[in-house]
Amino acid sequence: MKSAEHSWTPRSWRSRPAAQQPDYDPAELDIVLSDVREQGPLVLREECAALREKCAAAAAGAAFIVQAGDCAESLANDPVAESDAAVKLFAELDDAVRGETVRIARIAGQFAKPRSQPFESRVGLMLPAYRGDAVNGLPFDSAARRHDPARLAAAYRHSAATIGKLRRIESPVFTSHEALILPYEEALVVQDSEGGWWSGSGHMLWIGDRTREIDGAHVEFASGIENVIGVKCGPSLGAEQLLRLAETLDPKRTAGKLLLIGRFGANRIESCLPPLLRAASREGLATGWMIDPMHGNTRNFGGRKRRRIADMVEEVRAFFNICRSEGVEPAGIHLEVAPGQVAECIDFDGHDPMANFPCDPRLNSDQTVDLVKLADACRRQMVHA
Ligand code: PEP
Ligand code: CO
Repeated sequence: MKSAEHSWTPRSWRSRPAAQQPDYDPAELDIVLSDVREQGPLVLREECAALREKCAAAAAGAAFIVQAGDCAESLANDPVAESDAAVKLFAELDDAVRGETVRIARIAGQFAKPRSQPFESRVGLMLPAYRGDAVNGLPFDSAARRHDPARLAAAYRHSAATIGKLRRIESPVFTSHEALILPYEEALVVQDSEGGWWSGSGHMLWIGDRTREIDGAHVEFASGIENVIGVKCGPSLGAEQLLRLAETLDPKRTAGKLLLIGRFGANRIESCLPPLLRAASREGLATGWMIDPMHGNTRNFGGRKRRRIADMVEEVRAFFNICRSEGVEPAGIHLEVAPGQVAECIDFDGHDPMANFPCDPRLNSDQTVDLVKLADACRRQMVHA
């Protein structure tokens, strides 16, 4: 928590416990980070400020945020092709929503993943879990699974190329990622002429469900920056905790600054979300509420992660119904989408049992359009109700 004697700096997170950090060699990491610092921010302060205004409009019901993209970006992908695919997807999603959309991609920085299990075992061999391409490699061998700071440098270069391409289109697609690797985030913070601190790593950053400890390093880091901040809200988040998080992350109650992204699961949203919405309304928080119908609906079938479309549909519907009964404007939806026609999420027609995905099962673009259309239909029903 902030106190009178506590003063935030881009490195003040270092005095807090930092969950989910890579175990990089410190000397190698320093070399990479001074290089990243020298090359400078990937996004402009003005762009980040513009996004905050758009998110304020969404929180007030005047626009709808569609945040979508890969679970984890891959260094093996071509940044130009990735940008083109994102632009194409958002163009389709714009058509699925009546009124203005705010387009936020999980792109140009989404290279690090929090993991529930630090190790992975296969046939008697135990190796560090895959933590995203900025940290280690997916192949199950000890060389690939080593935490390598050179990957962080590669992720920065890849992100720069992706953003370079995204900037050349007319309607803006904003970038976002989970602000997980804190030394990297620290290296890209810049100060404006009025003294405000902005992240230069992406337009919007979010804190994951596993790193939203109120006294933890991720919350400390995010509490000092002006960018739009998302917080993933899972079933373990209580109302008191939510209020403390909001007070810490958005003490000035800046419109559009804080986005709360519910990801409870179809079977828990009814019990988890209403108390959070009520507490937020009682306190008069200026936050926008979004729904991520993916991360609370991950099931285990025969040792593999699976997500059913039916669960996602149910959680999306429940979200809008709850918003309506609590008198809250729904601000947007957050989805994990794969490039290409994958069949990773179980559809009513069945799924591909051989589907191979590095982290979580993702939607294909048709499934994404359908879910966004559903969200839009629910939203319009609310407006007319
Ligand atoms: C994610 O969005 O990729 C993620 C890991 O989400 P959560 O923190 O909600 O589990
Ligand atoms: Co994911």
